[in-house]
Amino acid sequence: MTVQTKPNMAHHWMPFTNNRLFHEEPQMFAKAKGVKYWTPEGRELLDGASGLFCCAAGHSRPEIADAVHRQLSTLDYSPHFQRAAPISFEFAEKLAAILPDGIDRVFFAGSGSEAVDTAMKMCLAYHRATGNAQRTKFVSRAWGYHGVNLGGTSLAGMVNNRRDFAGITCDVVHMRHTWSEEQRFTRGQPETGANLADELEEICKTYGGDTIAAVFVEPIAGSIGTIVPPKGYLERLRAICDKHGILLVFDEVITGFGRTGSAFASQEFAVKPDVITMAKALTNGAIPMSAVATSAEFQAAIFEAAKGDRPEFFHGYTYSAHPVACAAGIATLDIYANEGLFDRAKSLSDHFLDAVFGLRNLPQVSDLRGYGMMSGIQLTPGKTPGETGSWVQRALFDEGLHLKATGDALIFAPALVSTEQDINDMVAILQKVLGRQI
Ligand SMILES: Cc1ncc(COP(=O)(O)O)c(C=O)c1O
Repeated sequence: MTVQTKPNMAHHWMPFTNNRLFHEEPQMFAKAKGVKYWTPEGRELLDGASGLFCCAAGHSRPEIADAVHRQLSTLDYSPHFQRAAPISFEFAEKLAAILPDGIDRVFFAGSGSEAVDTAMKMCLAYHRATGNAQRTKFVSRAWGYHGVNLGGTSLAGMVNNRRDFAGITCDVVHMRHTWSEEQRFTRGQPETGANLADELEEICKTYGGDTIAAVFVEPIAGSIGTIVPPKGYLERLRAICDKHGILLVFDEVITGFGRTGSAFASQEFAVKPDVITMAKALTNGAIPMSAVATSAEFQAAIFEAAKGDRPEFFHGYTYSAHPVACAAGIATLDIYANEGLFDRAKSLSDHFLDAVFGLRNLPQVSDLRGYGMMSGIQLTPGKTPGETGSWVQRALFDEGLHLKATGDALIFAPALVSTEQDINDMVAILQKVLGRQI
């Protein structure tokens, strides 16, 4: 393999990256297979983050590559406004079969951020269609991440993702996050904290429950570093939403497709939202694609309110239901089913969480959290926020492990195809780096 190890980096403005630092010390991948990455110099790294929580079935799956190649050579692109490719219906039907019962109408988009903004618009359209056009406010949560489009930026609960963009955001009220001191080093769902959902009731008292369109939450807050919902919390949110006629949206962009041990966190926690957003592992990360799913009743309300032959929902993307993404998605769902990967996640979880919680006494670890095949490692803070996260992420890369840090939290979420030995090898690198005294 001939690779240019240090290309001219001036022209690509990298996302969520300190570009200047990166140019000095680039960390690049040139190849991936299974649970491994290779740098352009040929150095091997284990992937403890499934890429960016996308590649649940492992990297460079030939089944997906073949399906994509076949589709590209047959129908490379098809518009989906007033036209369609049959493969989009096939994919939606397949997806509906693994979604929670009764959530079986699927709208395709291109990224998690697009799915979130689509879901916000769907909720507004639903309320307008059902005579509640005054419901224009949204509720989300501190520490939440819902992508970076305008709706998602408004829902965002992390200061750096909002501060520079004030003025473009829409009407969102934030609830408190669900972490509290007494939960430190809790494995699985914390016993305490369900009452934090009552903040939604307070928000209804302040603003009027009948002004709120929807509540958006990640069932497990992923990007902030895996914050698992307290027992009873999601159920309570559901009950308060029902009481006030507010729609509940689960943003399952990370938790979807087996991460929790069930297809969706909604099934795992037995709480049914009105709308689910998903992306990432939808195509195993191979081709950008996302989706928003809801019920037939929700869809019917919007359809029935539409007059004449106009589109029922004035929304969509050039790349909605892209046929190549649908082909990648079908091949991905086949892998999940053929290899039983959601069940595998469930059975691997004990070993995974045992290994993660074995890091408890290391000097750089201040909290551990985890559920299914996702975990959060809270690092001992340095002099400034994010300082420990930054050096740990770099040190792990140098020692052969790819992990994602958000501030001072690591999100450790290996592919569902990982073996116990893969996990042990990843954790051995974590032991080495997090054991350092600084
Ligand atoms: C819960 C959640 N929603 C939305 C997004 C945005 O997805 P994308 O980066 O594909 O736009 C993410 C990305 O990490 C996410 O974790």
